[in-house]
Amino acid sequence: MIGGLELKSPLCLAPLAGVTTLAVREFFALHGAGLTHTEMVSCAGLVRDNAKTFDMLKVSEHESQVIVQLFGNDDALVADGAEVVMKRGGRFSAFGVNMACPMPKITRNGSGSALMKKPDIAAKMVKGLKTLGLPVWVKIRKFEKPDDTLCFVDVLVSAGADNVCIHGRTPGQRYEGVADRMILAEAAGRFPGLISASGDVKTCADIEEYLSYGCVAVMLARGTLSNPFLFEEWTGRVRTQEERLNELLAFSHRAEELEGTHRAVVALKRFAGSVLRFAHGSAELRHRAMTASGLEELREILKRG
Ligand SMILES: Cc1cc2nc3c(=O)[nH]c(=O)nc-3n(C[C@H](O)[C@H](O)[C@H](O)COP(=O)(O)O)c2cc1C
Repeated sequence: MIGGLELKSPLCLAPLAGVTTLAVREFFALHGAGLTHTEMVSCAGLVRDNAKTFDMLKVSEHESQVIVQLFGNDDALVADGAEVVMKRGGRFSAFGVNMACPMPKITRNGSGSALMKKPDIAAKMVKGLKTLGLPVWVKIRKFEKPDDTLCFVDVLVSAGADNVCIHGRTPGQRYEGVADRMILAEAAGRFPGLISASGDVKTCADIEEYLSYGCVAVMLARGTLSNPFLFEEWTGRVRTQEERLNELLAFSHRAEELEGTHRAVVALKRFAGSVLRFAHGSAELRHRAMTASGLEELREILKRG
């Protein structure tokens, strides 16, 4: 049991806006993720009946545990957004709240990491979501000072958060620099059973390190793009190059079926480079994959990899 959920693995697919669409989440659910996250979903979009926002609520039958990650600047708005999710019957295991995104288009109106400066609203958000009956997972970033991080986690946990994921970079660092692991060790020690880790998870050793600190779950983010088989590798399963290529070819068909050709091309290009790295003549194949204009062309390149 992690964060109120029964997970088959402590390795989770992190929320990645523009990346963790339905087909991509399904791929990772089938390739070892214990839990998947939607992209962050706008509560303003949900309450305004925005069709594109609703599109993000689709769940695959292969996702055993999936968290819908919400964002909004106000507790009442987030509660309303969550109710829309419930009414539309989304098969979600828990609510996630994004208090981590540092991008100005999100923080400008008080959402994402801007909430790290508003503990009162953050606490009310968690309390409001808890009344809906699902576990609540919050994702934050580290503060400049470790004590401030621990105080904010305390606010969230006291409000009823079932899990707090800390990304060991400050909002000011955005996605650059090295993620701090010591803050995760400290938080996991202070709040046993409640802390998940995010930041620079690229190898099995990275995963093991976070788990050794007492983090209950580890979020795989950019590391899954540079190695789509990292979840499986952690369980000891190492696929041959032929298997990897076949898995990607199967993904290309499924992604096209679920999301259409254009989005399938975008998703496949993200993964193709990493898998073609191991092919003969990899430099040329990777270049061709990156510049390919269509799905058929990409499939042909994969068949040659
Ligand atoms: C393209 C991209 C989109 C992201 N979208 C979200 C998001 O929607 N919600 C969120 O909480 N974090 C988001 N993140 C942050 C990741 O979940 C993760 O915390 C971060 O990338 C650090 O992990 P890494 O260094 O292993 O990539 C995003 C990161 C990237 C690179």
